[in-house]
Parts: sequence; C-alpha cells; structure tokens
Amino acid sequence: MDLSTKFMGQTIKSPIIAGSCGKTAELGNIKLSEDKGAGAVILKSLFEEQISQEISNNMRLMQNAGEMIEAYTYIAEHTKRDNLEKYLNLIRQAKESVNIPVIASINCVSANEWMQFATSIQQAGADGLELNMFIMPTNINMSSEDVEQVYEDTIQILRRAITIPVSLKISPYSAALAKFCQKLSWMGIANLSIFNRFIEHDIDINTETTKPINILSSSDELYHTLRWTAILSKLINCPLTSGGGVHTADDPIKLILAGANTVQVASVLYNKGFDYFAKANTRLMQWMQEKGYSKLNDFRGKLAIDKNDKASTFYRVQYMKYYAGIE
Ligand SMILES: Cc1cc2nc3c(=O)[nH]c(=O)nc-3n(C[C@H](O)[C@H](O)[C@H](O)COP(=O)(O)O)c2cc1C
Repeated sequence: MDLSTKFMGQTIKSPIIAGSCGKTAELGNIKLSEDKGAGAVILKSLFEEQISQEISNNMRLMQNAGEMIEAYTYIAEHTKRDNLEKYLNLIRQAKESVNIPVIASINCVSANEWMQFATSIQQAGADGLELNMFIMPTNINMSSEDVEQVYEDTIQILRRAITIPVSLKISPYSAALAKFCQKLSWMGIANLSIFNRFIEHDIDINTETTKPINILSSSDELYHTLRWTAILSKLINCPLTSGGGVHTADDPIKLILAGANTVQVASVLYNKGFDYFAKANTRLMQWMQEKGYSKLNDFRGKLAIDKNDKASTFYRVQYMKYYAGIE
C-alpha cells in the first residue's frame, strides 16, 4: 500500500503532517513526529505581532530606567535578531535530526520588513515556508479588495525573496472565498493550506473580564473543513492541505476523498499525542486494502465537487426540511 504523496516539491511517505502549533516548537516533538509516521512537520510560527509586542515591552523597561528614546532602534533590532536567531537554530537542529521535510512558518499581518526573515529561514535550511496570514477586517478604510491586495503583495514579495516553496495558510473568512483561493493559487504558491483556526474569547461575568476559550479544536469542526476541501480542491491551481477538526483515524480518509493532497493536524497532538500518526496511517492502509486501492490517487477527490456539479450536498447550507430531516 503506497501512502506517498507530493508536498512542497518533495515526495513524502504519508499525507498526514504535523501542523504548526506549540508542540512543533520543540525538537523532541519534531523527532517524534517522524518516528510516529508524520509525512512532514510545520514548525510553530514566528509571529510578527509577538515580536512587535516584545519590542514595546523592552522599550517600556528602558524608558522606566530613564533611557533615551533613541535606544529604540537598538532594542528593536536586538529583540528581532534574538527571536529570529532562536527560530533559525530550531530549523538547523531539526534539519540535522530528521529526514522528513521541515517547513518553517511565519505569521504576518502586513507585507513589510518581516519578510527579510524569510531569507534567513531559507539559509538555515528550511525545506519550505508556510505563510500564516490573516488580516482582521476591522479597518473601515480598507475594502475587501484592499485586504486581498495585502495577501497578493506579500506573496509576491516573498516569492521574489526566496526560492524554497511557499505555502499559504488562510482562514475561512472571505466574502468570495472560492474566487479568492483560486486567484491566490495562480500566484506561484506551492500549496494552499485551509484553514487556520482562531482563538475565541469568552466573558467571565463575575470578574467582568475576557478569557481565551476552546484553545483546541473539536471533531465538529471537521465538517466545515470537509465542505471547503470538496469545493476548493478541483478549483485551485496548486495542491491543497486540509486541516481543522481532524481527531479520529478516519478523518484523513474523508479529507482525501474530498480532494485534499495532505492533511494537517494540531489539536489531536495535544489530546492523543504523536501516536495519532501511527494510528491514522495504519487505518488509512487498512481502509485502502478493504476498498482495493493501492495508492492515494485511486480515491483522492472522489467526493470533490467538479466544475459542472451545481447540486452537490456540500453546497447546501440552509435547514431545509428535506436535508436536515428532523423538522
Ligand atoms: C495550541 C495551538 C497553537 C497553534 N499555533 C499556530 C501557529 O503558531 N501557527 C499556525 O499557523 N497555526 C497555529 N495553530 C493552528 C493549527 O496549526 C491548525 O491550523 C488549527 O488548530 C486547526 O487544526 P486542528 O483542528 O488539528 O487543531 C495552532 C493551534 C493550536 C491548537
């Protein structure tokens, strides 16, 4: 049974890959991912906003100590270099320790100077770079076209800066998601990854404060990913990675049937550990054997929506009696 597939320009042994999360910031877990059968690993993202925040914190300390504001450039550069150096070390160590592709990840909210980091990431030996992008649409002076333009500019700058393959990881929030994804997929990216997941916040009515909630995904979230995998997989011009709500060993099979080239997991690594990779690979092989498939392409996209199919159940969203069956 052949589970191999293409991902970011390489052939990987399994379509199930470790998604970017706190677990993939540790070398031990990167090795464990390979040992347990992950096809590739996406490192924890280097966050533009987090580094900016650290710069502000360091600046406040300096100002309290009576330092001059001119120190800003020095502190900003030092903080950035320090964060980047730690990240580059992780890439170098990971590359020395494992044979599966090591994909770095940067989170950016603008097409600005953080792009310089990409060149250093390439030099450190990363096999590819995943760009984790989301622009919170709160700026009333930015139209949807303006927001989309930031994505396009960022991809263009990145592609000029580096030669390693670039994957774009997006959120499900876009007024014209299918069209947007198709457009992005024609911009020379090596992979489109759906979907990034956001931390939501609850309100504690006793303390009247907010607190993060549902940090890990649940199985229910898979259905949204399945729908969009089926819609996008035959529309776009690059391979598709699907993730979000993958918790059981059957879930990767469903996503590949819907057209995913690879499947990304994060929350399940917290809930069930890295053994998940071994279990999901075994289940995939067993299922393929039962069905008489010898390779992934024998069934990939069997339930994806074709261009001419206007009637797929994946298009149905309203609670009409016929579809919900409970009214
Ligand atoms: C604790 C945690 C940390 C995460 N950190 C990142 C990150 O740094 N960069 C990123 O692109 N995605 C990050 N994610 C999102 C995951 O990579 C993934 O897209 C999302 O959680 C949906 O997949 P899941 O249902 O398997 O968790 C994180 C997820 C979790 C649970």
